[in-house]
Amino acid sequence: MSDNERTVFPAELEAAIAALKDHYPEERAALIPAFHLIQDEFGYLSDEALIRAGEILGVSPARSLGVSSFYTMFRRQEEGRFHVNVCRNLSCHLNGSVNLREHLEKSLGVRAGETTADRIFSLGEVECLGACDEAPVMEIDGEYHFRVTPESADRIIEEYRKRAASTEISGEGGQS
Ligand code: FES
Repeated sequence: MSDNERTVFPAELEAAIAALKDHYPEERAALIPAFHLIQDEFGYLSDEALIRAGEILGVSPARSLGVSSFYTMFRRQEEGRFHVNVCRNLSCHLNGSVNLREHLEKSLGVRAGETTADRIFSLGEVECLGACDEAPVMEIDGEYHFRVTPESADRIIEEYRKRAASTEISGEGGQS
């Protein structure tokens, strides 16, 4: 890259994306692996990152943005420290998952699919978590919580909030 060229990626990532051009017959085809590299590095795909990937590969910003929006495996927003997922399938639905999700949206101040301003929680809905007899089920980073009520959800969220605070104090990578 030339010195006066605006670079938004670390040099290794720039080089890795540029190298993709040698492996794909069309620049456009290299977008998907490039997006994976960017998501691995930053956790999500910002507009700026998508445009930069396009620049490197010789693809227009419109094309780059369009391709990213087509694939659900790409995150377009910075994720929270914890991913809170509420099951929305039948058993959970019949046992109050909608109410639970709405309660979490209110208490966290985000809609499903969004991340809190403090970047601690991302809220989402997922398909059956395989624990239907314990409905409604909420999963946070692989930990399952069963028969969750709005009240117990508040307590659970508070626990994770404390966890986030303690790892901040003890340094990133700390484990409770
Ligand atoms: Fe929610 Fe199966 S329907 S865990």
